[in-house]
Amino acid sequence: MSSIPIFQENTEVVANRSIGPDLYWLDVHAPQIARTALPGQFVHLVVSDLSRDHRPAWMRHTPLLRRPFSVAERNEKEGTVGLIYRVVGGGTEILTERQTGARIDMLGPLGRPFEPITPGCPVVMAAGGVGVAAFFFLAHEAVYRNGANPLDIRVVFGAATAGLLGGEEKFRAMGIPVDLATDDGSRGHHGFVTVLLERLFRETPNRYRFVYVCGPTPMMRRCQTISQEADVPGQVSLEGIMPCGVGVCMACVVPCRPPDHPDVAPRYERVCHAGPVFDIREVAL
Ligand SMILES: Cc1cc2nc3c(=O)[nH]c(=O)nc-3n(C[C@H](O)[C@H](O)[C@H](O)COP(=O)(O)OP(=O)(O)OC[C@H]3O[C@@H](n4cnc5c(N)ncnc54)[C@H](O)[C@@H]3O)c2cc1C
Ligand code: FES
Repeated sequence: MSSIPIFQENTEVVANRSIGPDLYWLDVHAPQIARTALPGQFVHLVVSDLSRDHRPAWMRHTPLLRRPFSVAERNEKEGTVGLIYRVVGGGTEILTERQTGARIDMLGPLGRPFEPITPGCPVVMAAGGVGVAAFFFLAHEAVYRNGANPLDIRVVFGAATAGLLGGEEKFRAMGIPVDLATDDGSRGHHGFVTVLLERLFRETPNRYRFVYVCGPTPMMRRCQTISQEADVPGQVSLEGIMPCGVGVCMACVVPCRPPDHPDVAPRYERVCHAGPVFDIREVAL
C-alpha cells in the first residue's frame, strides 16, 4: 500500500451526468484527494444520504457499507475528482440521485497505484467496461505530467455494447490510439477485447514493454495468459467486494504467488491494502 495519507472529505457534487445506459460520470469537489491521488488508487463513498433521504428511517442507512470507485480524473487547480460508475445495484442506483450541490462522504486516496508510465517505453492499456476508469487518469498523468508520447500508449477497450464505451473520446483527445470491441458488434471489433490485445502483440512483437489490465475477472485472466505468452510484464487492477477498504475486515483477500515461484502455496493479500494493483503474474484470478 502507498504511504500517502488518507483523507475523509465531505465532498460536494459538481456534476453527476449520464454518459450511457446505466453509466454515469460524477465530479466532486474533494481538494485533498485531488491533490494527492495517484493513478490506480480508489475512493470509498458513503452513498446513502441521511439528511435528504425520504425513505423510512429503517432504510436510510442502506447500504451501510461504503462503495469503492477508481479515480478516473483529477483537477488539482479546481480541487475536483472525477469518477465513472455503472449502475449495478442499490448503492450505485442511489448515487445517481446525488445532484449538483449534494454532499458525499469520501475516503481516499486508497490502495496501491499503478507503476507510472516511463516516457519512451510503449505500453498497452487493456480495459473492460468501467475498468477503463483508472486508465483515463494514468494516461493523462503520463502525457501531461510525465511527457510521454501519446503514440507510445495504446488502448484496447471493450464493453458489452457501444453505449458502454463511455469516455473513450478522452483518450483520442490526448492523441492516444484506441481500438474498440463490443460483445454485440455495435462498435469496433465484434467480440472480446482480449482478441485485440492478442492481435496487437502478434502484429507488433517486441513493441510494447508493459501492459495494464482492468476489467471483469475472465477478461483479466485471459490477459494474464496473453501477456505471459508474449513475455510482456504488466499489472492488473482488481475490483472485488470491499467492505472496509482500509485493510481491517479481511473480506477482500485474493490468493497470490511470487511471480518467479508459481508452484509455492499461495499467500492471501488484501486487495484494498496490497492492491488493488498487482503484478499481472502474481495474482491467481
Ligand atoms: C478498487 C475498486 C475500484 C472500482 N472502481 C469502479 C469504477 O471505477 N466504476 C464502477 O462502476 N465500479 C467500480 N468498482 C465496482 C463498484 O465498487 C461496485 O460496482 C459497486 O460497489 C456496486 O455497488 P452497488 O451497491 O450498486 O451494488 P451491490 O448491490 O453491492 O451489488 C450488485 C451486484 O453487483 C455485484 N458487485 C458488487 N460489487 C462488485 C464488484 N466490486 N465487482 C464486481 N461485481 C460487484 C454484486 O455481486 C451484485 O451482483 C470498483 C471496485 C473496486 C474494489
Ligand atoms: S475491504 Fe476490508 S480488508 Fe480489504
